[in-house]
Amino acid sequence: MKPQLVFFLAFLFLFSLSEGLNPICDTQDHSSTLQVFHVFSPCSPFKPSKPLSWEESVLEMLAKDQARLQFLSSLAVARKSVVPIASGRQITQSPTYIVRAKIGTPAQTLLMAMDTSNDAAWVPCTGCVGCSSTVFNSAQSTTFKNLGCQAAQCKQVPNPTCGGGACAFNLTYGSSTIAANLSQDTISLATDIVPGYTFGCIQKATGNSVPPQGLLGLGRGSLSLLAQTQNLYQSTFSYCLPSFKALSFSGSLRLGPIGQPKRIKYTPLLKNPRRSSLYYVNLLAIRVGRRVVDIPPGALQFNPTTGAGTIIDSGTVFTRLVAPAYTAVRDVFRRRVGSNLTVTSLGGFDTCYSVPIVAPTITLMFSGMNVTLPQDNLLIHSTAGSITCLAMAAAPDNVNSVLNVIANMQQQNHRILYDVPNSRLGVARELCT
Ligand SMILES: *[C@@H]1O[C@H](CO)[C@@H](O)[C@H](O)[C@H]1NC(C)=O
Ligand SMILES: *[C@@H]1O[C@H](CO)[C@@H](O)[C@H](O)[C@H]1NC(C)=O
Ligand SMILES: *[C@@H]1O[C@H](CO)[C@@H](O)[C@H](O)[C@H]1NC(C)=O
Ligand SMILES: *[C@@H]1O[C@H](CO)[C@@H](O)[C@H](O)[C@H]1NC(C)=O
Repeated sequence: MKPQLVFFLAFLFLFSLSEGLNPICDTQDHSSTLQVFHVFSPCSPFKPSKPLSWEESVLEMLAKDQARLQFLSSLAVARKSVVPIASGRQITQSPTYIVRAKIGTPAQTLLMAMDTSNDAAWVPCTGCVGCSSTVFNSAQSTTFKNLGCQAAQCKQVPNPTCGGGACAFNLTYGSSTIAANLSQDTISLATDIVPGYTFGCIQKATGNSVPPQGLLGLGRGSLSLLAQTQNLYQSTFSYCLPSFKALSFSGSLRLGPIGQPKRIKYTPLLKNPRRSSLYYVNLLAIRVGRRVVDIPPGALQFNPTTGAGTIIDSGTVFTRLVAPAYTAVRDVFRRRVGSNLTVTSLGGFDTCYSVPIVAPTITLMFSGMNVTLPQDNLLIHSTAGSITCLAMAAAPDNVNSVLNVIANMQQQNHRILYDVPNSRLGVARELCT
């Protein structure tokens, strides 16, 4: 190796150390593809300050899911307000995966949570009461502006108010309430630049559901990123989520129709006119091994009036099925693993084993597409390997839930393609860890 190169590499290494960055985290996003990190990844500033044990992290994720499901159900049934989640513990309920976005001129980098079940984007802004320490400093951006009450977008936000001519609004997200100004600035995603992007500039936040550096909504409703980038991305994106077993790896979020997989299976996306941000799909049946499970009719049925049906969500960790569907699937799964084995539970998981097992695959049978999940998407193992659980659960019964949620653990290492113009969702196996 040439001496100059050695010096250069040593310099790079020292530079990374001094910045406190893990070198793998500092790679640049290119064209329209962003790296996706798990919140617990070494690249994430939001990882727990002390490492959690396996049991602790599973229980933490289950607790977050509980809050998430309450939020999703409230969206699905279109209630006016969300009941705050009572919990003895402090749970940060923000979504699981983050991407890097740059806002303003000159650009300020924020690690925003990716949420396919939410339309809006919001960012904590200077002066925010109740936000974390990293905020967007709007005064430093030459392209920033607050929108007036007369702006057309002001009619699309919940509970708009008009203070001194500026459009402000309040909303609830999980257990949090947010007060924000409706603002506009340039946002850069990988190398794409979106001028005049409309988002909520958070002035006040309560509770702990608000993602610390903001939220990037990829829902399909009217103020979403998709709606605002029609020409650029044509309401098309895909992601591959890295497994949380491999925390040092990143997945990808690919925006726009270019570079999307050609060989991919599709199922139609269904639209619930009353809950326009959610991505509903038609889950017809579930197979355990080769046997189609006998699920009571109605448990999987789409019903826009009640909000019932199945959605695909990036923010929930473990798939939830309404109780009759889950019980039926679990019973067949247990029989296939072996009726003579002792079943234990862990938190919300009721099908755990303390001996090594041979598990059947589970196939989600959508209209037009069967997706067979390998063991990595179905089982979680304790670090010591002494406990194995089926990583699915019944929808919480305190929520009056009618919603089945295909969650991110079951999506990991697959490319999930949201093709809104053609009203279809694609799924293909892809190893992104
Ligand atoms: C939000 O709006 C209020 C009222 O118009 C204003 O006082 C405040 O400075 C705004 N915040 C930001 C960050 O622009
Ligand atoms: C929105 O929240 C702010 C701050 O919490 C509060 O002062 C205001 O009254 C709220 N507005 C509405 C319409 O609820
Ligand atoms: C449990 O049942 C399986 C077959 O169903 C058998 O192979 C295995 O030996 C049994 N194990 C015990 C501990 O009885
Ligand atoms: C899904 O699998 C079932 C067999 O369990 C089969 O009858 C059906 O045709 C498959 N669907 C598709 C779209 O391949």
